[in-house]
Amino acid sequence: MWWEDGVVYQVYPFSFQDGNGDGIGDLPGVIDRLDYPAETLGVDAVWLSPFYRSPMDDFGYDVADYCDVDPIFGSLGDAERLIAEAHRRGLRVILDFVPNHSSSEHPWFVASRSSRSNPKRDWYTWRDPAPGGGPPNNWLSVFGGPAWEWDEATGQYYLHSFLASQPDLNWRNPEVRRAMYDAMRFWLDRGADGFRFDVVHYVMKDPGLRDDPVVEASGPGVFKDLGEYDSLVHLHDKGHPDVHEVLREIRRVVDAYPGRYTVGEIHVLEPAALAAYYGRSEGDGLHMPFNFTLLYAPWEAAEFRRRVDEFDAVVPAHGWPNYVLGNHDEPRLATRFGPGRARVAMMLLLTLRGTPTIYYGDELGLPEVEIPPERQQDPWGLRVPGLGRDGCRTPMPWDRSANAGFCPEGVEPWLPQGPAAAERSVAAQLEDPSSMLNLVRHLLRLRRREPALHRGEYRALDEAPEGCYAFLRSVADGGPGFVVALNFTDRELEVPGVGGEVVADTGMHRVGERAGPVLALGPDEGVVVAV
Ligand code: NOJ
Ligand code: CA
Repeated sequence: MWWEDGVVYQVYPFSFQDGNGDGIGDLPGVIDRLDYPAETLGVDAVWLSPFYRSPMDDFGYDVADYCDVDPIFGSLGDAERLIAEAHRRGLRVILDFVPNHSSSEHPWFVASRSSRSNPKRDWYTWRDPAPGGGPPNNWLSVFGGPAWEWDEATGQYYLHSFLASQPDLNWRNPEVRRAMYDAMRFWLDRGADGFRFDVVHYVMKDPGLRDDPVVEASGPGVFKDLGEYDSLVHLHDKGHPDVHEVLREIRRVVDAYPGRYTVGEIHVLEPAALAAYYGRSEGDGLHMPFNFTLLYAPWEAAEFRRRVDEFDAVVPAHGWPNYVLGNHDEPRLATRFGPGRARVAMMLLLTLRGTPTIYYGDELGLPEVEIPPERQQDPWGLRVPGLGRDGCRTPMPWDRSANAGFCPEGVEPWLPQGPAAAERSVAAQLEDPSSMLNLVRHLLRLRRREPALHRGEYRALDEAPEGCYAFLRSVADGGPGFVVALNFTDRELEVPGVGGEVVADTGMHRVGERAGPVLALGPDEGVVVAV
């Protein structure tokens, strides 16, 4: 299927292109730039972060109407035009669906909080205070503080795993499920090619709302350090096994429309637990749970190999692996690993067995932008200093004109673009044959052209010296195979037993070279050899 052979590109609507000159990206802006993902990059699908009607407390992940477009981004007609224009270019459109919580301004929640007897009361999770007073249990909000907000008017607490203005919907109520499935159909009927489901493992919690255990001894952080939130083992506040029944239902809704794709944002690192989200058989779970295991891997060849091998081994036969190196919640790839290593990481992402999802701007090697305190916007960073996500959400630099072509001259973009936006822009990098953008375009073309790279088998090579991660991609039915050799060190390395023609290299100067019988790798260099 296209989501197995293809590549997905994430667009953050706030920051792709401003179409109406207010300094904020919008859907007409995205439409104007569709040739970029479709032609310049040649990816198969774009995933757009939310553009629904929203007070924007969490930049669109607080939805006030699942079936309309926020005026900041345009109109419902613009969304329909975007889908049509993308399809005309052979590009699929994946929408972001936010099932766990709505905005507190959603009419459902307004009704729910209006009185204890309102028919929508049970659409959210309301509880009396604990016997001694205070919140009903010890659950914490990801964004800091308790996960419960007191409602004076009706004398109960409601649950919010994120902001207080993002109350959690009660997915144990069948009416809620029906309403959410209707909202999904609304977009499927309009041609959406699938959904990325926001924190979908949160929708099912312990029905008894038991306290989360307190972390006894702090081990190595799973992802990044989340502060107070990491003081609990999140055993009961998310990921209850009943979530798999919900995913089964979601697949039934989506599978009524042929060729549609479902991917879940699920922060689970343990490979087998993550793989459970593929379901027990085709159609039983998500097409893919996002695999974030490489995001916070230390830059060590053996560790990257271990994480890939482990995941590759547990993906069920009806599933297909996938890999992610960046998104709108994480510090930029080029800053996490450094610019040279970002090229090696991108080569890995685009040559592994599994669907790559590229975060907009990572193909340019954009760094995390330093945001001055007075311009910080992300509610997480404002509540828990150090966890702000604005630095990876900055406007896309397109060319050398004012505001790097993102918005008109004289208009201040909603977030600063950071230094050297013009030199990092798409236009500037297209002129430079050895730019990161041209490397990514080259790898994307190669992946698309070569069956071994987009659907072949994967086998890590034990012959690779320490500090090098090398693997073979091959197809059983003939056709060339490829060795990908990645140097994770700043020293020169030699990989024995690799001979053939270099078809890609991170420095963009070795293509066509005959390599072998020993492949020489420069510091921080990655090479793909046709063998
Ligand atoms: C995950 C999203 O990716 C993030 O941006 C958002 O803040 C939370 N879910 C809450 O919806
Ligand atoms: Ca705009």
